[in-house]
Amino acid sequence: MSVGIDRFAVYVPQYALRLGDLAVARGVPPEKLTEGLGVREMAIAAPCEDVVTLAATAGARLLRAAEVDPAEIGMLLVATETGVDHSKPVSIFVHDLLGIGPRCRVYELKHACYAGTAALMTAADWVRAAPGRARQALVIAADIARYEIGSPGEPTQGAGAVAMLVRPEPRAFVLGEQSGTYAGNVHDFWRPLDRREAIVDGKYSVACYLDALTGAFTDYRALERPALEPEEALSDRLARILYHTPFPKMATKAHRRLVELDWRATRARWAALEPRLEDEAAASYRALAASGLEAVARIGNTYTASLYLCLASLLEAEGRALAGRRLGLFSYGSGCCAEFFTGVVPPSVGAVADAGVGALLGGRTFVDVEAYERLIRAGDTGAAPPPGFAGDFVFTGVRDARRHYARPGVLAA
Ligand code: CAA
Repeated sequence: MSVGIDRFAVYVPQYALRLGDLAVARGVPPEKLTEGLGVREMAIAAPCEDVVTLAATAGARLLRAAEVDPAEIGMLLVATETGVDHSKPVSIFVHDLLGIGPRCRVYELKHACYAGTAALMTAADWVRAAPGRARQALVIAADIARYEIGSPGEPTQGAGAVAMLVRPEPRAFVLGEQSGTYAGNVHDFWRPLDRREAIVDGKYSVACYLDALTGAFTDYRALERPALEPEEALSDRLARILYHTPFPKMATKAHRRLVELDWRATRARWAALEPRLEDEAAASYRALAASGLEAVARIGNTYTASLYLCLASLLEAEGRALAGRRLGLFSYGSGCCAEFFTGVVPPSVGAVADAGVGALLGGRTFVDVEAYERLIRAGDTGAAPPPGFAGDFVFTGVRDARRHYARPGVLAA
């Protein structure tokens, strides 16, 4: 029985900032952000949004698109590192807002950006454990990425959510059976309990990411090897490779490392190709990795959702052409845990490929740097939704130490 993602739905906030404007305000050359980091725009949450409303809106969009009755959801997993409470999980608010019935296993998962993959793998195992089960699993990855204003991490902020329906015989993405993993305790990026913004050792975090990729891909390749022809190139095995993408240039660095690792694994190939490594890696990046980064370049880092935003938007743009092809995915969570795995795009993808990314990006409101700073400093105040707000739910504030949510229409009435 095949298991995987039947359908995706994405939600990104309506406000966005052009990184060219941020570069001017911070006195850095715009090319440093657009070429050096590869980011062009970043999404900013409105004051009526928090991680619960982002996740619940993505979930509501998915249930509507897939025409799934909320009562059919037997497992709801929400992955995030933007938790709203030390004890009460984001997932139980989402469960309530989506109207999912009481017969449901519901929890939140955390391991920095890796939690989206932890949730997907857990849901897939739940489906495999009882193939005859009538109900399906809903996995949602959602985050608001925040760094200090003016810090090197500032241009790598973003916000968004991706919801995934996990079930047997999926129509969008069939998960492969093998994956390579890697874990180790490092202080590259973290957010102490009393802080809203992350602390990051930026350059070290890039090195930790690449070390984890080395570990996870080496582990995966050892499992793949028995079935591998010695001379089979990466592009013969994988049609596209997607990476956890805090900023697109990270994926460029990751792909360069992956190509080298793949060649080094076969000594004869490595000797012949070493002098051409840079040119070959650049060509391989253009063919296998670049097209998966378009949405991230316009939304920014969505932490747990980042890899799945890449996958959903790739399938939306190229799903039909990729039918029958295998994709490689690399998930990284600071701290750290990482996984390299693959999956196949089934021929049925055409019917379910629209995750809503193009429509959402086409309808955004761009703000200037002053308005962006006001929004970021204020955070989730529970103020009224802005005109044209596309979310299904709004955060209305904290009263009696409890967080409150509503539908925007109910508020307006
Ligand atoms: N034109 C073109 N490129 C330019 C330029 C110009 N005028 N000026 C500088 N650049 C290039 C630099 O050469 C550099 O490119 P390379 O890395 O290819 O050499 C790039 O722009 C970045 O410039 P800096 O090296 O000066 O780095 P920075 O001070 O801007 O910081 C950063 C970059 C460390 C990534 C910082 O943005 C940061 O801390 N980001 C948050 C942490 C992060 O995303 N880490 C990624 C791995 S951890 C992870 O993946 C988990 C997660 O989601 C957070």
